[in-house]
Amino acid sequence: MTTNRLPPTRYTPLAKLFHWLLALGIVGVFCVGLYMDGLPFSPQKLKLINWHKWAGMTILMLSVLRLVWRLTHRPPDLPAKVLSTMPAWQRVAHHGAHGLMYLLFLAVPLIGWAYSSAAGFPIVLFGMLPLPDLLSVNKELAEAIKPLHKLSAYALAALVVVHVAAVIKHQFIDRDGLLTRMLPQR
Ligand code: HEM
Ligand code: HEM
Repeated sequence: MTTNRLPPTRYTPLAKLFHWLLALGIVGVFCVGLYMDGLPFSPQKLKLINWHKWAGMTILMLSVLRLVWRLTHRPPDLPAKVLSTMPAWQRVAHHGAHGLMYLLFLAVPLIGWAYSSAAGFPIVLFGMLPLPDLLSVNKELAEAIKPLHKLSAYALAALVVVHVAAVIKHQFIDRDGLLTRMLPQR
């Protein structure tokens, strides 16, 4: 039997849903992280830290699902029009930045979870579901891990800035329609 299936030219609805849901969630959790860090110790700060941890753990779970789905489904190839004008280094940067973002989607919350466990603050998801500790309590280790959470979150933020700048360049300078691959289809 012959099949007429062509390689995909756009992201599927589920890939788009994952992209926009997690883009919103990650930017939100990052902003809450920055805001709560500057607050003096107070019940409000503790409440925000809990919300940050619950949202961060939800992002971790969704990112695992997204990664499994991504590894089992072929993404659209870059359009020939884009490839023809893209220098080799940009192609490497394009795929490299996506790969690094996926890595950090897992690393940032996992490091946050490890920090919380080592600091002696176990996670009770949404105040109802206790999660296992990743590490046993060790205040010295917690102090060593804390800056790694910040550093990895800042690295992710920097990649996102580069990513959005690249999308803007494709949309308004190259005008190659790359953005439409990630937008809802009418
Ligand atoms: C994608 C997910 C996440 C992002 C983007 C993120 C980002 C951030 C940022 C930007 C800060 C402020 C860092 C600073 O300026 O010092 C922060 C702090 C913090 N994060 Fe996250 N985070 C995420 C997930 C998590 C998770 C899953 C946990 C724990 C389960 C967690 C626990 C914490 C804690 C406890 C702090 C406060 C540290 C303190 O000031 O005592 N984060 N996070
Ligand atoms: C205004 C904001 C954003 C726009 C316009 C945008 C647009 C896009 C577009 C057009 C693509 C597809 C590129 C291609 O066709 O190869 C893409 C892919 C991607 N974006 Fe964004 N994006 C935005 C924000 C974000 C944010 C905040 C994150 C991460 C937190 C993110 C993570 C990703 C990832 C990981 C991919 C690769 C998807 C894959 O191949 O599986 N994006 N984005």
